[in-house]
Amino acid sequence: TSPKPLAGRKAIVTSGPTHEPIDPVRYIANRSSGRQGHAIASALARLGAEVTLVSGPVTIADPAGVKTIHVERAEDMRDAVLTALPADIAVMVAAVADWRVASASDQKIKKNPGESIPTLALTENPDILKTIGHHTLRPKLVIGFAAETQDIDSNAKNKLERKGADMIVANDVSPATGIMGGVRNRVRIVTHDGIDQWPDMAKEDVATKLAELIAERLRRG
Ligand code: C5P
Repeated sequence: TSPKPLAGRKAIVTSGPTHEPIDPVRYIANRSSGRQGHAIASALARLGAEVTLVSGPVTIADPAGVKTIHVERAEDMRDAVLTALPADIAVMVAAVADWRVASASDQKIKKNPGESIPTLALTENPDILKTIGHHTLRPKLVIGFAAETQDIDSNAKNKLERKGADMIVANDVSPATGIMGGVRNRVRIVTHDGIDQWPDMAKEDVATKLAELIAERLRRG
């Protein structure tokens, strides 16, 4: 088989967290290093795909051979993803904040002695995976991630349906696993055909295996 089975294919990958501003100096975010998403963008590029990586704020380097777009907020990530359409493959790995502050302050909120403590009103962020999964320009393969600490399989299966995805890569991010922020990952591949448990591997190896699986699925049509 060809060493570049994804030549001529376009892929969009999201990675990292989003930062949702409270004011110019504060934000809310999910934990995410971007390691797994960046590794997937690299692996797809190595197989010949033309990859757009939409990355939230991370401390790791842009992957070689990939067009990387840097964003902060979920709404900016959604806009960048939609701008990158059409594509054959979408792999949404980012840990997008589910909520943002309803009205972020333009000025730093001051801590004045004797004044009441602020409360944050939140509003729902766009669900990028769900948007892509139901889009008129829906990529042939739409893949999401599911970081769970309980009921991993049932949550992943629900996500498959709700988000209009072809595959959910589910991992157990309970603190005891060390997966969050770590270099290794242990995932379950949930599709409409069933569930496949992969052994504990380096995040790079999960990425390579996933890129090969993507190539295989596209080859089969
Ligand atoms: O937050 P949730 O567990 O539903 O996320 C599962 C998948 O959905 C992940 O692939 C994540 O990247 C994606 N997601 C998204 N936009 C959101 C929330 C989640 O693309 N606002």
